[in-house]
Amino acid sequence: MDIRFLGQSAFELTDGTTTILIDPFLSGNPKAVTGPEDHSPDVILLTHGHADHYGDTVDIAKRTGATVLAIVELAQELSGKGVENVVDPNLGGTVQFDWGWVKLVPAWHTAVTQDGTPHVAAGLLVSFAGKVVYHLGDTALFSDLKLIAERGDRIDAAIVPIGGHYTMDRYDAVTACHFVGADTVIPCHYDTFPPIETDAQAFKSDVQNAGYAEVVIMAPGETHTLR
Ligand code: NI
Ligand code: MN
Repeated sequence: MDIRFLGQSAFELTDGTTTILIDPFLSGNPKAVTGPEDHSPDVILLTHGHADHYGDTVDIAKRTGATVLAIVELAQELSGKGVENVVDPNLGGTVQFDWGWVKLVPAWHTAVTQDGTPHVAAGLLVSFAGKVVYHLGDTALFSDLKLIAERGDRIDAAIVPIGGHYTMDRYDAVTACHFVGADTVIPCHYDTFPPIETDAQAFKSDVQNAGYAEVVIMAPGETHTLR
């Protein structure tokens, strides 16, 4: 599976056949190196509806017919905006696709869309191409991050916010890496705007020196192949 970082919390996963786009905040993202027109996903997954995650979802979905998966209240807003293929799980729910499955898991964060739709932020467990990727979404550190590994879902790669201010910072994120137990950690949600500037290299050193995971720091536009 190829994992491409697109800036902030946006990632594109592909196995060469199926393409999954997560939190496609591209327009207005000062770090983005692609625009919405550069992406034709089969599926779009949303952690929550803040503008730096929701992003270009509606435009991309309408142009491509991509299925959009989001928590139920957010899914209803997307349907109301004319997105045709919407899947609306709630926390704890697993949605099966022909390429794998997606499970919504808790994240500790507020969430309302710019149009005023209140909902609950989530993390995404994505089983795809023989791997499990855990996108933590926007979250503070909380001890139930342990539950996913304890329940038996082996996480190959975790996508972890480290920027602080709106999410956990790079210090709390080290503990989150311990809790999640992934082989590979990819930091996100930092350096896009001044309040979330941080030292990703220091985060990498702290996680690796503790032996928690291998950390892959990606510049927007870069691709990491998960083997
Ligand atoms: Ni947020
Ligand atoms: Mn955010």
